[in-house]
Amino acid sequence: MKSFLLFILIVGVGTAKEWWEGGNFYQIYPRSFMDSDGDGIGDIKGITQKVQYLKAIGIDGAWLSPIFKSPMFDFGYDISDYYQVQPEYGTLEDLMELIEKAREVGLKILLDFVPNHTSDEHEWFKKSIKREGIYTNFYIWEDGIPDPKNPGGRNLPPNNWNSEFRYSAWEWNEERQQYYYHQFGVRQPDLNYRDPNLRAAMEDVLKFWLDKGIGGFRIDAVPYLYEYQDASGKFPDEPRNPDCADPDDFCWTVHIYVKDQPETYDVVYSWRKIIDEYSQKHGGEPRVIMTEAYASMDNIIRYYGNSTHKGSNIPFNFEMIQRLNKNSNAKDFSQVIAEYLSKVPKGSEPNWVLGNHDNKRVSTRFGEDRMDLINILLQTLPGVAVTYYGEEIGMTDVHISWEDTVDPQACGASPLTYEPYSRDPARTPFQWDDSPNAGFSNASKTWLPVSNNYKETNVKAEEKIPNSHLNIFKTLTKLKMEPTMQDGSFEQKVLSDDIFVYKRELAGSDTYLVVMNFGKDVQTVSLKSAFPNIADRAEVVVSSTQSPLQRGDQVQTDNIKAPPSVATVFKSLK
Ligand code: GLC
Ligand code: MG
Ligand code: CA
Repeated sequence: MKSFLLFILIVGVGTAKEWWEGGNFYQIYPRSFMDSDGDGIGDIKGITQKVQYLKAIGIDGAWLSPIFKSPMFDFGYDISDYYQVQPEYGTLEDLMELIEKAREVGLKILLDFVPNHTSDEHEWFKKSIKREGIYTNFYIWEDGIPDPKNPGGRNLPPNNWNSEFRYSAWEWNEERQQYYYHQFGVRQPDLNYRDPNLRAAMEDVLKFWLDKGIGGFRIDAVPYLYEYQDASGKFPDEPRNPDCADPDDFCWTVHIYVKDQPETYDVVYSWRKIIDEYSQKHGGEPRVIMTEAYASMDNIIRYYGNSTHKGSNIPFNFEMIQRLNKNSNAKDFSQVIAEYLSKVPKGSEPNWVLGNHDNKRVSTRFGEDRMDLINILLQTLPGVAVTYYGEEIGMTDVHISWEDTVDPQACGASPLTYEPYSRDPARTPFQWDDSPNAGFSNASKTWLPVSNNYKETNVKAEEKIPNSHLNIFKTLTKLKMEPTMQDGSFEQKVLSDDIFVYKRELAGSDTYLVVMNFGKDVQTVSLKSAFPNIADRAEVVVSSTQSPLQRGDQVQTDNIKAPPSVATVFKSLK
């Protein structure tokens, strides 16, 4: 085979790691994880019942999508009280019990901090409408502009900004006689980070939850914290996006003013300072922040901080979600990985996020036959791995009818157009076993329907099958703890359009080799030509569920069969 080399990348990683570095994180969507009280909605006690499971699959930290008081218009991303637990999820005591039970098994619980907006049912918003005291400027209020067609009538919105959930991002409030700004739903008014009182109030929220013993925060929608204001205090129009034909859609303008404003980074750095000071003062392992930002790679890197300020420990890296899909080949994967690793600053920790509650599942984006390949990639790259609940058992997106659709992002569309907007398909109940509702709940109806593949795709069934998705995942998380995976170098090569290979190496420890075939045919690969210093023989550590290669099988490194859509991890034999 003619082999050509695209990239060689060597990453040296330092020692003396903190608990989260090189760790495995898991996102729980609490509404869909485990229902302990039979109302068809997952809850905190349900998560506590499954702490042992999280431990068993090798998780270090689990972050929970919001469990705070909320009218649930955006399923918890519309918080009406940052200090209360939503009753359908349980009580503060339940949460304390979860944190404690998790601590006992060596697992940390992280909470979702939603700083950009509250619910319109939040007391702050009600007081802001009434211009009460310090709350007057907690939100972004504007008069709007006089309507030439309606002199003396209600003003028009201040500018052309649309919300992520469609239509103008400005909503008129009768009582205050002003518009308020909402980046997301109408019922999610944006907070005003130019108000020092608001900033102080949000810092109090952080401290309150740190005091409850959590491992840190995932921070929501960070790029939207600030909106650009010109010298006269006006929020100017954004330029039109010529590629967007829908005047009601978020795509209508190019987002130079509603996101990525320079002040954003300083706020993140100030939050990092708070959590670091907290860790220093109270002892124990460092608390961490993970930030959600769909932004350019340069902006993602800015979240890490700089020489004077530390920033996000884990600025989520969504490159694999945004730039790779079913049609990506070996070169595409290689490029995305190489570019990212080359940009992560020295001394900062890389991370890889392969899914979440806002995106289609791995099986939909990369193909069902590639689920293990993707998990193998996630677990064998250097740095932190973030798994969305269910990806370890190979859950798939579930078709949700218009009648069953509850995601506000989809409800804003129509029965004919809602599907591309809907995030419901990736939020269905977790599949524990083959009993009714997949063991998630004993309710007659669950909040979203359970996948009809649950009889085969579930934890209980997969525990019994040696090379199931779940057992592959468990093998991988164990492997990730090996010194080579933690601290070893990373060297990658593209051998053809289809074949991507890499080597993880650490002096004095085992050398691992990974072979991935993104093509449609079986290929013969010579790892020996790609990496001449490896041994002539290697042993299979783990391979995709459909692979003929079995754990322990030995191969000649100059002649390896790589089946399509299969990834295999080998250990070079001494
Ligand atoms: C983030 C969340 C998403 C939510 C939005 C508004 O992007 O991940 O689910 O709808 O923020 O809070
Ligand atoms: Mg429940
Ligand atoms: Ca904002």
